[in-house]
Amino acid sequence: MSRSMRIKGPACVRGSLKLPGDKSISHRVAMLASIANGQSTVSGFASSADCHSTLDCIRKLGIRVEDTGSKLLIHGQGLFGYGPPAFNNQIAVRLDARNSGSTIRMISGLLAGQSFISEITGDASLCRRPMARIIEPLGLMGAQVDATGGNFPPLTIRGQKLRAIGYESPVASAQVKTCVLLAGLLADGTTVYCEPALSRDHTELMLKEFGAVIDGHSSGTLSIEGLQELTPIDYQVPGDVSSAAFFIAAASVLPGSELTLQGVGLNPTRTAFLEAMTHLGASVSTRNVSKQHGEPVGDIVVVNASLRSDRQAAVLRGAIIPNIIDEIPILAVVATQVEGRVEIRDAGELRIKESDRIRAVADGIRSLGGEIEEFEDGFAVTGPQRLVGGRVETAGDHRIAMAFTIGGLIAEGTTEIIDADCAGVSYPEFYETLAMLAGPEIVEPIQI
Ligand code: S3P
Repeated sequence: MSRSMRIKGPACVRGSLKLPGDKSISHRVAMLASIANGQSTVSGFASSADCHSTLDCIRKLGIRVEDTGSKLLIHGQGLFGYGPPAFNNQIAVRLDARNSGSTIRMISGLLAGQSFISEITGDASLCRRPMARIIEPLGLMGAQVDATGGNFPPLTIRGQKLRAIGYESPVASAQVKTCVLLAGLLADGTTVYCEPALSRDHTELMLKEFGAVIDGHSSGTLSIEGLQELTPIDYQVPGDVSSAAFFIAAASVLPGSELTLQGVGLNPTRTAFLEAMTHLGASVSTRNVSKQHGEPVGDIVVVNASLRSDRQAAVLRGAIIPNIIDEIPILAVVATQVEGRVEIRDAGELRIKESDRIRAVADGIRSLGGEIEEFEDGFAVTGPQRLVGGRVETAGDHRIAMAFTIGGLIAEGTTEIIDADCAGVSYPEFYETLAMLAGPEIVEPIQI
């Protein structure tokens, strides 16, 4: 049974911490290491349940993954080295991505180019998420992917010898981009990919680390030649900036707070939240920034400050949205403490995440006694508002659970987060870390 949590606000957060490894980077390093020629070593792999779904999938595909406690050793078998036997017209392997959209969408690019049939499914939430966005390009490359209603998991993927394509994606999605680039790596010829706005570019950076040549700048057209062999690497995963966002938000709005977050990934395609907070007047600075594997990494120092929106920062829309998409729920909570109006637009993608996040955010704010205006593609919050606490349903969505836990720290009364354990999808240590930063009396498990 999943735990619920009781949060007693108001409270502040103080201290220093190291975040778990970045979820996006961990998925990618596991997948690329699995198709490299030999053993890669990964330190700081994410504790996230989603990333463990990816590891379980590659293990089922015959890849040996050893966990030494401090490192993962992933024994790659080359581009076409997955183990299951190719028996005629039968499913050779059944995979379960559980709650992980990244796992199913990205690994499908690899499955599409293999010589066997695979099936990949997930939990009830994942089975409601659209897959047509990857089925279309994979189909153009020659793979046959069957899905419920042509769009929803489970997916049955009949792997084929793939052909390269030129593809203009209608969505700015790093999951789709990664799927096509991985399939492109297995295809004959040069695959060219274009997206309507820049999504996170970890795959492009990491392919280069594994020795692949990938041309073009991420903000324009990317091209990758197929059948390039990958060289195994030693990789250090930085801390997850999307997990850091919850504590950055808390420290910014809670009087008396001061936090240092060490070794966090600061890739510019992921840091729009930090910039938005700074525009709103937050005191967020970075220190000791260096580059690891092409990714900027550094410490983040946050001190409480009063927040206000000016004309520039008040409306977030357009090309910035893919960069801040996972941080929008916590930004909504922050907005209740900002003097002025904060509006999010062009974020309809939020409706098809682990939950309908626009609806879940609106419900959560209202449950804490706040006000929010909901739009089809976003919302607006005018603050500062007095939050009084309440009972928040998480819709089984990790980022909703964590965002409204921070809401509970802000609120003047008691807040109950129902099914809080879903936070483990990205951040299993979240509640223990919060108890360390805010005090054990502030956050405690309850039976509902
Ligand atoms: C991710 C990309 C984003 C993001 C998700 C992780 C990734 O999804 O919301 O949490 O690691 O590539 P989309 O690519 O669907 O926008």
